[in-house]
Amino acid sequence: MPSFNLFLLPGDGIGPEVMAEVEKFIAWFNKQGIAKLETARGLVGGCAYDAHGKAISEEHMALAQSADAVLFGAVGGPKWDKVPYDVRPEAGLLRLRKDLGLFANLRPAICYPALADASSLKRNVVEGLDILIVRELTGGVYFGEPKTITDLGNGQKRGIDTQVYDTFEIERISRVAFDLARTRRNKVSSTEKRNVMKTGVLWNEVVTRIHAEEYKDVQLEHVLADNCAMQLVRWPKQYDVIVTDNLFGDVLSDVAAMLTGSLGMLPSASLGAPNAKTKRRKSLYEPVHGSAPDIAGTGAANPIAMIASFAMALRYSLGLGEWAGKLDAAISAVLAKGLRTKDIAGDQPANASTSQMGDAILKELKAAA
Ligand code: IPM
Ligand code: MG
Repeated sequence: MPSFNLFLLPGDGIGPEVMAEVEKFIAWFNKQGIAKLETARGLVGGCAYDAHGKAISEEHMALAQSADAVLFGAVGGPKWDKVPYDVRPEAGLLRLRKDLGLFANLRPAICYPALADASSLKRNVVEGLDILIVRELTGGVYFGEPKTITDLGNGQKRGIDTQVYDTFEIERISRVAFDLARTRRNKVSSTEKRNVMKTGVLWNEVVTRIHAEEYKDVQLEHVLADNCAMQLVRWPKQYDVIVTDNLFGDVLSDVAAMLTGSLGMLPSASLGAPNAKTKRRKSLYEPVHGSAPDIAGTGAANPIAMIASFAMALRYSLGLGEWAGKLDAAISAVLAKGLRTKDIAGDQPANASTSQMGDAILKELKAAA
């Protein structure tokens, strides 16, 4: 039986509630003998700050480094609005991404037929949507230096963020996108702002060259990022794989999320480079939604993005792709039966709490097993 170490970082807000649903699946996989999934839990974000004054401790960073996969809930909330910038809750997530080298962030946006009416767009625009945003995650303006606010001494301050990309960073993320496109509809849309930004010029140049040298069989188009945002709400089905930088990927993936009906539906996988010997990639799986402090503790959170993130872990880190498919099908089936948490209920009242949704999906999975 394959054996794996999962490091669970539930975090803040609704994070622990949606993680509790995933733990039901982990327990069931163990009980069934499908895999031996050993878990450890750690603190990240505001709860870590409360416990030891840092957004993540060195000890928990080490556990994340040695895990086969990290499952991450959400971080942040108004309680920590005033904490120093370096130890704000989001710093824990950014450090995990950077130190684990998780440069490739996969954000699939799938509109389940049963949810097409929950989207703010018309049914025919989103029904059957299946796109994948591949976001560069360890570079760009998120990490570029200098990153400062300086006092100009004349009553003015200057804020500086630096957008920086090296060739190798663009090469490796474009290869991830092209490889994934080959397993899908074979099209990549590369997105930048080459009309304004030097990083965009370089991005365009490198993606074009990697395509010409290694991926001629894949269809490639270049789309300016603002146009891509517009096209995503106009006719999203024109896309298959969108590859883009860290900041544009952050923004475009929130847009893509709403196409699917709710931010509560979007999972993500963040992957590092394969280890030369073991071929394993470091990895972290997290829902795209945040900590939603307004509904934390009310049982209203939608656990689907977290559960679907666990499905991505089965597929990309645990070699259990077949089970990932079954779990995705179970989610789809439960939605088709009409179960809805508040965020996807439209103008109807919700008929499922966080745990009822989790239980129903597990029941469906058991029936399919
Ligand atoms: C995301 C989030 C993060 C980001 C925040 C929480 C730092 O919005 O994963 O999309 O900006 O990357
Ligand atoms: Mg975001």
